[in-house]
Amino acid sequence: MSAVIEVNPLEQFSPEPPTPGDSCLLIIFGASGDLTRRKLIPGLYNLACVGCMNPQFEVLGVGRTPMTSEEFRTKLRESASKSGGTRDFNDGHWREFENRLHYFAGDINDDQFYSRLRDQLDKMQSGGSSPNRLFYVSTPASVAGPVVEGLARAGLNRTAQGWTRIILEKPFGHDLESALQLNDVVHKVFDEKDVYRIDHYLGKETVQNILVFRFGNSLFEPVWNRNYIDHVEITAAEAVGVEGRASFYEETGALRDMVANHLLQLLALTAMEPPIAFDADSVREQKVQVFRSIPPMTVEEASKRTVRGQYGPGQAGGKPVPGYREEPHVKASSTTETYVAVEFQVHNWRWAGVPFYIRTGKRLPRQVSEIRVHFKRTPQALFAGTPHEQLGPNVITLRIQPDDGISIAFDVKRPGDHMRALTVDANFSYESAFGSKGPPAYETLLLDSMRGDPILFTRRDEVEAEWRIITPIEEAWAKLPAPVFPNYAAGSDGPAEADALIGADRRAWRKLAV
Ligand code: BG6
Repeated sequence: MSAVIEVNPLEQFSPEPPTPGDSCLLIIFGASGDLTRRKLIPGLYNLACVGCMNPQFEVLGVGRTPMTSEEFRTKLRESASKSGGTRDFNDGHWREFENRLHYFAGDINDDQFYSRLRDQLDKMQSGGSSPNRLFYVSTPASVAGPVVEGLARAGLNRTAQGWTRIILEKPFGHDLESALQLNDVVHKVFDEKDVYRIDHYLGKETVQNILVFRFGNSLFEPVWNRNYIDHVEITAAEAVGVEGRASFYEETGALRDMVANHLLQLLALTAMEPPIAFDADSVREQKVQVFRSIPPMTVEEASKRTVRGQYGPGQAGGKPVPGYREEPHVKASSTTETYVAVEFQVHNWRWAGVPFYIRTGKRLPRQVSEIRVHFKRTPQALFAGTPHEQLGPNVITLRIQPDDGISIAFDVKRPGDHMRALTVDANFSYESAFGSKGPPAYETLLLDSMRGDPILFTRRDEVEAEWRIITPIEEAWAKLPAPVFPNYAAGSDGPAEADALIGADRRAWRKLAV
């Protein structure tokens, strides 16, 4: 592909030119879905534009809807040109890119489907397509297992001439049991080294930066423990509602959708010990150790340490919006949580006694994902008797989005005659330091899977360890009295009970409403 856009963020952040992916044929199951349209195709288009795409790269979209490759391209073009996911959408670049896109209609529940798919792939290979095959399973969790089995029946889990890898989109199972079953099915036919389980938060530039911040500097690590840290607050707030995904969300809820993966990953990266090397297994090993240090909650603990919420009617962007129960395809008596706050305890030498408060929700005042590490107050109230007897504690904020960066809050003396202190921020922002944000997460992850680098993907035991934390909470909730929903208005900071959850010892969530 000759078209090259001027700003290449992958190049900009790295002194060396980006390494293109291997040649391959990417086969997407769920090609007519939202993810393909909004994230995968824009990400691939960007990679082609910045010169990271191997010339022998193609996509075969698989879906039930009958359509030709031409119709498939037209549909994707429409959404790619509108979506914010593509940088500098340009007709000429798109025309070159779309030649790489093909479509194959079929029903994945039909027995004949997989042998037809095999014939199609063989035909493409004889016509010059790459022998390397990358399957992307972006289907409802319940269908992922049958797809993997179907691929194996048709002998598509291996190729003689190239490599075969499989990317599994979240949700990876619905609970511990289904995740174990899915892993068993996958492992019967694929080696773990060829399995790429996606958690797109790991592809975010600022999430990758957590390890560099912690282990690339000698300043922070000595104080990154229970002796100095009072508590950790992790937020992933969204202003949007369920956005036409109600049938998925009704079955999922905020705990499974966000905490079981994205938020637990943020917690693990914040809490983990230094890995012995910067490679996939060493990093994943340390994350698993963190998960194993979080004991499963009893029903009583879940009643005290978790808060569920569901939004009612309110405001978003200054306009009235309906409550969750009034959204299309949501039951009028739905008990699905659109908000959750949890206090986790990490029972190990470094973190004993330090609570990790996490919260996530839809229809909160704005989109913000961040990790705030709150340090203990100074041991001596040296400035007692001044107007600021109690100075603010230090807080390190790792801002994941939207204003990607890091800030450190500390106290200074206000200029002037009186001893008055003020909390100020030392601030690092990606945008002002590097001139632009990093590449979108899916772009990074797709490229890594084509290069065969699994460091930003989750390992089998990691996903199972996540469910070992989440499933007991779901089970406890099923035994506890159902909360009275809705319990927060769209556009508010969430249910009042969440304030009580964090509220001991003058702790408080950062206010989201501006
Ligand atoms: C997805 C969830 O995994 O993450 C969505 O299924 C959520 O419900 C999304 O909106 C949030 O991702 P981001 O990158 O916008 O923070």
